[in-house]
Amino acid sequence: MSINIDPEIIKRIIQLREALNRHNYRYYALDDPEISDAGYDRMMQELISLETDYPDLKDPGSPTSRVGSAPISSFDTVDHSIPMLSIENAFNDSDIMDFHKRIMKNLNIGNDIRYTAEPKMDGIAVELVYENGVLILGATRGDGERGERITENVKTIPTVPLTLQKKDRIRIPALLEVRGEVIMGHDGFKKLNEDRIRAALPPFANPRNAAGGSLRQLDSRETAKRPLEIFIYGAGKIEGMSFETQGELLDSLKSLGFRVNPLIRTGITVDEVLFWYRELVQKRETLAYDIDGMVVKVDQVAFQKTLGETSKSPRWAIAYKFEAVQESTRIVDIEVQVGRTGTLTPVARLEPVSIAGVTVSRASLHNEDEIQKLDVRVGDHVFVKRAGDVIPKVVKVIESRRTGNEIPFRMPENCPACGERVVRQANEAAVRCINMECPAQIKEGIKHFISKGAFDIDGMGDKLVDQMVEKGIIASVSDIFYLDQETVSDMDRMGEKSASNLVSAIAGSKTISFSRFIYSLGIRFAGEYVSKILSVEFDTLDHLINAGKEDLETIDGVGPVVAESVFVFFRQQKNIDLVRRIIESGVQIIHEPKREEGAFSGKTFVLTGTLETLARNDAKKLIEEKGGKVSGSVSKKTDYIVAGDSPGSKLDKGQKLGIPIIDEGTLIAMLQ
Ligand code: IVH
Repeated sequence: MSINIDPEIIKRIIQLREALNRHNYRYYALDDPEISDAGYDRMMQELISLETDYPDLKDPGSPTSRVGSAPISSFDTVDHSIPMLSIENAFNDSDIMDFHKRIMKNLNIGNDIRYTAEPKMDGIAVELVYENGVLILGATRGDGERGERITENVKTIPTVPLTLQKKDRIRIPALLEVRGEVIMGHDGFKKLNEDRIRAALPPFANPRNAAGGSLRQLDSRETAKRPLEIFIYGAGKIEGMSFETQGELLDSLKSLGFRVNPLIRTGITVDEVLFWYRELVQKRETLAYDIDGMVVKVDQVAFQKTLGETSKSPRWAIAYKFEAVQESTRIVDIEVQVGRTGTLTPVARLEPVSIAGVTVSRASLHNEDEIQKLDVRVGDHVFVKRAGDVIPKVVKVIESRRTGNEIPFRMPENCPACGERVVRQANEAAVRCINMECPAQIKEGIKHFISKGAFDIDGMGDKLVDQMVEKGIIASVSDIFYLDQETVSDMDRMGEKSASNLVSAIAGSKTISFSRFIYSLGIRFAGEYVSKILSVEFDTLDHLINAGKEDLETIDGVGPVVAESVFVFFRQQKNIDLVRRIIESGVQIIHEPKREEGAFSGKTFVLTGTLETLARNDAKKLIEEKGGKVSGSVSKKTDYIVAGDSPGSKLDKGQKLGIPIIDEGTLIAMLQ
């Protein structure tokens, strides 16, 4: 066998395997590569060709097995040496307090029990078995007692270590069964579904299904193409390694090369568990993958043993579920709304349904293409999703519940507000009403003008705006400033008091910052962000009005589309007249201080890793308030890198470029 092989070849193969495993771990688990992708590919190619030339030296732990192997006809069944139990659910704080009290009682000890709190990843549970540091088996959870052997498939997941690494004084155990969740991130899921639609294959309903489907491929070369990831959160049978707490176990697993979720908190009290739950609910919206709750585990292994388990689930763990963000309901009707810029948006009227604590009775269907893609019909049962502040969205039709009486929807050919014919421009998904006098557009324009980010006029609700436009009291936004007490109190459902409040609110709104003023005009593509940029760039309204297209295009943060839109807006006499009338009514524009005046002016920051106290968006906002800029990538122009927990490759790049690296505490100090 290998006796005749040149020892140098054997040495090189071992060297390549070790290096590739290490680089793979740095790249995928730490997001902190040491070599380029091309360098990695060259090493992989060299190893593949050596293993082809010397088949005797093939090894199941070799990184070359990540590309998958020949298809199999079915999966074998494997027994779990320790059952993979399920877990009980909690839905509110008092369920968690009951769990805590139960534990105190069972252990017969006081309040000082420590827990770990971990994100409950929404994927597929798997077990990985390592003998002397080499992955020999991967299995699904199955019914908890036995699952399916999917070893070749899990090997293709880049964050699954094929061999374990010795680090931080941890010895490689003779036997190690770890458990974790295979997930698919949002970006990967989106791309996979786009590819499937292009190939006329049915898209997956959600990342969890996509992860499950990808893991159950009989051809592991297909699994290798799917963007799967893993997080490890626990263990089965172990020989040759011990630990006293769940926190310690996770640390050891990290040292051995497993990817452990960075949002896990260990050794915390029950109060801290409840606090962290609230934080996690917030963070959930910014994560690149789905989580559906938080798993709370008693930290001490000795306590876990005493508590034991029921036939279904351990008594030492509980899943504090998040409220579902997706629910099913029925579409009662599809209405068409006309927006400020004339865009026709189909909106589904729903049988009211509670989603994550909010009653939802309408959901956007975006445009004609979206309706066709989803094949939504009036009467359909659908899944509706709500995420954060975003408008609820219809995500899927439940076709199995169709009766045949559903009515397909067609976009109207005439504007439902003014009756004029609508147009659909080439390369635009939106259908638009181009009648400038369309009452729906005027109403929406006014609602925008008085909204929070613009003139922020209190006491002028949507109904009042509709009424005033319908009665011809206001035909353009500038008319608002010419309203008097008498006219306002003549409106339906308007008392003397509210009329006088409204008139003073209008008067009080007349002093306005330049950025809000620009935003209030409702120029297409000039949202709050662009308006802010323009307000800093131009020191007077006239300068903005007279700016050439090239002047606008050269501004950092203003692209050609935005520049064109702003330029065209101020070339229309109607808009110039409008601005004049607003100013003539006594509106005072306050110009913003130049960016240069902030303590961070001219400085560019890059954020990497998880920050402890500041949410990423808040950190960004604070830096910008001081005149600084936050960029997504490191370059020679970067002034500071702010490194949080588990920083990514940006840190490495910054170090190479010699850019000052600061931690969150330093940033906060600088912001004071
Ligand atoms: S522990 C002893 N921890 O949630 C309790 N499970 O039934 C066993 N899950 O599908 C599970 N994240 O795969 C645990 N941090 C986490 C988890 C987690 C996700 C999944 C698990 C299973 C379900 C629990």
